[in-house]
Amino acid sequence: MKRAVITGSGSEIASLRLTNEQMARIMDTSDAWIRERSGVEQRYFASAEVATSDLGTAAARKALERAGVAKEAVDLVVFATMTPDHYFPGCGTLLQEKLGLRSVPCFDIRQQCSGFLYGLQLADAQIRAGLAETVLLVGAEVHVGFMPWTRENFEYAQGKSDVPPTPEEFAWNSRFRHLVVLFGDAGAAVVLRATDGGERGVVDHELHGAGADYDKLYVPGTGFKHRPYTDPEQFKRGDHIPVMDGRFVFKMATTRMLEVAKSVLQKHGVRPDQLKLVLMHQANMRINEYCAKALGLRDDQVPSNIQKYGNTTAATIPLLWDECARDGRLQPGDLVLLVAFGAGMTWGASLVRA
Ligand code: ACO
Repeated sequence: MKRAVITGSGSEIASLRLTNEQMARIMDTSDAWIRERSGVEQRYFASAEVATSDLGTAAARKALERAGVAKEAVDLVVFATMTPDHYFPGCGTLLQEKLGLRSVPCFDIRQQCSGFLYGLQLADAQIRAGLAETVLLVGAEVHVGFMPWTRENFEYAQGKSDVPPTPEEFAWNSRFRHLVVLFGDAGAAVVLRATDGGERGVVDHELHGAGADYDKLYVPGTGFKHRPYTDPEQFKRGDHIPVMDGRFVFKMATTRMLEVAKSVLQKHGVRPDQLKLVLMHQANMRINEYCAKALGLRDDQVPSNIQKYGNTTAATIPLLWDECARDGRLQPGDLVLLVAFGAGMTWGASLVRA
C-alpha cells in the first residue's frame, strides 16, 4: 500500500502587521484583554491587492522548492479556505494557473479551521488509491475582508492616517471586537508524495462534522439562502461579518479536540508522551492549553504561533508545521498529531510520521 509522505512545506504571511494596541485605536479593546483571553499579540492582514490565492501560491512555491519537486510533477491540488478570492470558482484552479501547473484536478475544501485536516485526508486517500503521486495541499486565508472597519480606520490603526474613527465607526467596530481580534491572514502549503514502504507517512485520520450548531459560528448574510444572495441591507446589518458565540465555540472546541485526539491515539496504541509534537489549530491559546494539560503533554510537545499570527483558519496547522520543520523542532521520522476544530461544526485529528 502506498503511503503519503509530507516532503516539503512553505508559508507566506500577509504584509500588514497590526498589534493589539493598534487595534485598540479603532475599537473598544485592549492589549491586556486580547492577550489574556486568546494569547494573540499581533496579526498580519493582506494589503488591498493580495488575495487568498496569492498567499496560497507563494506558500506552495516555497513548499515545492523545499520538497525538491518540479511543478510538472504535481498531479493534484487541494486548496482549503473559507475566504476564497471569488464566490466561484474556488482557489484551486487559480493557484494551478498562477503556479503554471499542468491541467491537474483541483479540489476546493470548505471546512474552515478543519479545512487542512479534511484536505489531508483527501490527499492521503488519493495517494493510497493510486490516483495521485504528488499532491499540493494548501490552506490560505485573507480574513481582512470580514473586518468591520473602513479603509480610513485601518490606516489610522496602522499610524498611516491622522483621522480617527467617528464615535459611530468606533461603536460599529467594537460590536465585533470579540471576533475580529482573533484572526490574521496567511497561506501555508505542504507537498505530499507517494512512497512504497518505509515508516514515514500519514498514518490515520479521524474526521467529524455536526451541523446542529452551525449558527454558533457562521456568516448570516451573502449566501444563496437569500434572494438576491447579497444586498445593501445585509451590509447595513453587518450580516457579511461572521457571527460567533465565543463561549459555546470554546467549550465545544475543547471537548471535541480532546475527544478526537484521544480516540486516534488509542486506536494506534500511542501514548501522548510518545509524540514528538502535537500541532493544534491556533484559534485560542487557552483552548490549546486546556487540551494539552488534559492530554498530559509537555510544553515542548505543543508549539504555538498564535501570538504572532492570530487565527489563520485553514493555514494554522501547515504554518506551524512549516515553522517547526524549518527551525528543526520537527525532523523526518517524528510522530506528530494534528488536531483541529472549526465552523460547521467540524473537527478532526491526523496522526503523521513526518
Ligand atoms: N476586548 C475587550 N473586551 C471584550 C472583547 C475584546 N476584544 N471581546 C469581548 N469582550 C468583553 C465582552 O463584551 C464581555 O464583557 P461583559 O462581561 O461586560 O459582557 C467580556 O469581554 C467577556 O466576553 P466573553 O465573550 O464571555 O469572553 P471569553 O472569555 O469567552 O473570550 C473569546 C471570548 C476570546 C472569543 C473566546 O470565547 C474564544 O476564543 N472562543 C472560541 C473562539 C474560536 O475558537 N473560534 C473558532 C474560530 S475557527 C473557525 O472555524 C472560523
